Amino acid sequence: MQTEPTILLNPSQIGEAARLLRAGRLVAFPTETVYGLGAPIFLEEAVKEIFVAKGRPSDNPLIAHISHLDQVHQIAREIPEQFYRLATTFFPGPLTVVLKRHQDVPPLVSAGLDTIALRMPAHSLARELIDLVGVPIVAPSANLSGKPSATESTHVRFDFDGKIAAILDGGKTEYGIESTVVSLLGPKPVILRPGSIARDQIAKVLGEEVLVATEACQGSASSPGMKYKHYAPEARVRFFDRLELMVEATLNTNGKRQLVLSRVNPELGQDYIPLSAAEFYRALRDADAQGYNEILIYCDEKIQGDEGLMNRVRRSAGM
Ligand code: TXA
Ligand code: MG
Repeated sequence: MQTEPTILLNPSQIGEAARLLRAGRLVAFPTETVYGLGAPIFLEEAVKEIFVAKGRPSDNPLIAHISHLDQVHQIAREIPEQFYRLATTFFPGPLTVVLKRHQDVPPLVSAGLDTIALRMPAHSLARELIDLVGVPIVAPSANLSGKPSATESTHVRFDFDGKIAAILDGGKTEYGIESTVVSLLGPKPVILRPGSIARDQIAKVLGEEVLVATEACQGSASSPGMKYKHYAPEARVRFFDRLELMVEATLNTNGKRQLVLSRVNPELGQDYIPLSAAEFYRALRDADAQGYNEILIYCDEKIQGDEGLMNRVRRSAGM
């Protein structure tokens, strides 16, 4: 258990972040999606610490982050041709691919599954860090289990101060929601978690139909993470796909402090924050910090066309 305070490192101190990681200490770092909480993939003790620090259920596997394609062979086996097609188009970027796991990877990383999820982040600090550490870095999102992900170093500090060695500060993350996760292990590719890279884009590159795992068909959980409560702030989140219904919800507040999130300000007199993928988790965290009791989210047609953001909105509302 750590006793020193968590240190904030600026990009010029990336060497120190790498040194701490190699010594088996946990370091949070920026990616283009959200901040990750990292450990070198082959350091089992450090990987174990990630689960403890996050309060993460041990059956929820981690994503391995690579900086070069040749690292794929160190962590995966029987790599299908489809992988290279996806990698050519989408790496580096917010796409995670699930393959068969290499026997050298500690089973703990994948929560005992015979598979491994991997991605090559687009953030240059993330790739530089992996290069300096010399092996892939496993990292879940750097938030307490069940809470909104972290898109700024202050969010990471709020959740983990005194519990992890350091945070490499890369400012605000670009996309704001986590990567799309696609499995290439079944007869057809399956999206296990929607994200900024859309199903259609993946289908186009692969030249075949891509399925989307629904809650119902996950059963024994092809993506174990999806069965857990996610992205939930303290405030109650209510989701509306019709403006009239949200208006109704604002009429009788029963003394509750309400915050409205939507693409365009509906001018209901309630406090308002614009809704976007990049700012979504920050809005949830700010709502808690400012003591709102309810977050009312209205998703118009344009927002409904964003499968990644819609997934996070629904899940934050417990749907
Ligand atoms: O954008 C992202 O993906 C961020 C940044 C830090 O890279 N990471 C992230 O990690 O969101 P995490 O741990 O919060 O979410 C990983 C998701 C979970 O839903 C998990 O169940 C799924 O990926 N996953 C990981 N390994 C898997 C595997 N072997 N098979 C199926 N699903 C897997
Ligand atoms: Mg997460």
